Amino acid sequence: MESLQLRTALQTISGQMTSDGAGVKIKRLIGGNLIAEQDPFLLFDEFLSDDPNDYIGGFPDHPHRGFETVTYMLAGKMRHQDNHGNSGLLDAGSVQWMTAGKGLVHSEMPEQENGLMWGFQLWINLPAKSKMIPPRYQDIPPQKIPEIETLDGALIRVIAGTFNNVEGPIHGIDAEPLYLDVRLGNATLLEIPIPSTHSAFAYCYEGEVCISGNPVEKGKLVSLSEGDYITVKGCSVSSQDSLILVAGKPFDEPIVRYGPFVMNTKEEIQQAIHDAQNGLM
Ligand code: CO
Repeated sequence: MESLQLRTALQTISGQMTSDGAGVKIKRLIGGNLIAEQDPFLLFDEFLSDDPNDYIGGFPDHPHRGFETVTYMLAGKMRHQDNHGNSGLLDAGSVQWMTAGKGLVHSEMPEQENGLMWGFQLWINLPAKSKMIPPRYQDIPPQKIPEIETLDGALIRVIAGTFNNVEGPIHGIDAEPLYLDVRLGNATLLEIPIPSTHSAFAYCYEGEVCISGNPVEKGKLVSLSEGDYITVKGCSVSSQDSLILVAGKPFDEPIVRYGPFVMNTKEEIQQAIHDAQNGLM
């Protein structure tokens, strides 16, 4: 039997502070100048602030076409509403997996006037064959996300994919994603398998974590090499050490992006702009 290969940190990214929507302060880790994309991932943002001025404007009506947006909340409340009559409240610990497909217009607005707002938005591409499918939502409340506790005290929330034969609640996604929230507690060392077909990254959102032996501080993202698994352990004294681990199958197709539209050709982008301007989303 072939031995399994350890995935290591290829590149460490600190991200850039920027603003989006109506002046919401965010940290862009993928999708900015440093890493335009990591197929199939188009964007990864963290929003984190306890100052309402940083988030109160929210993300008023804007369109999407050709990919999926995934919002995972650690703290705060966000109200979601689209032009097809869908709406929902995202609160702490919940995830919304929105397959925009052929398009919609939606808003994402804070449903709080003060306090901490903390979460992540990930954009995952759709392959050409799925870019024009009807929009679909998977809104998952916190109690529907399985949590695995290891014997030495780590807690793993399985949002998508599987860990220890426990399957996350998100289904039917082309990229066959793995999305884990890993809280290390006092765990000694955790091995996490990642399908070798997938591209992967990890983001340390609290404390400091050692990923395959490489220390990664709070607020830094590492893209991972090819292989079959990573090892993780906490490397600060706080026992709060935590990371998000995301993996997905690359599509290896041409990517043409223009703001909230991500298609395969320029003509498809022009069509998307036309459709958005003419109320056809
Ligand atoms: Co949006």
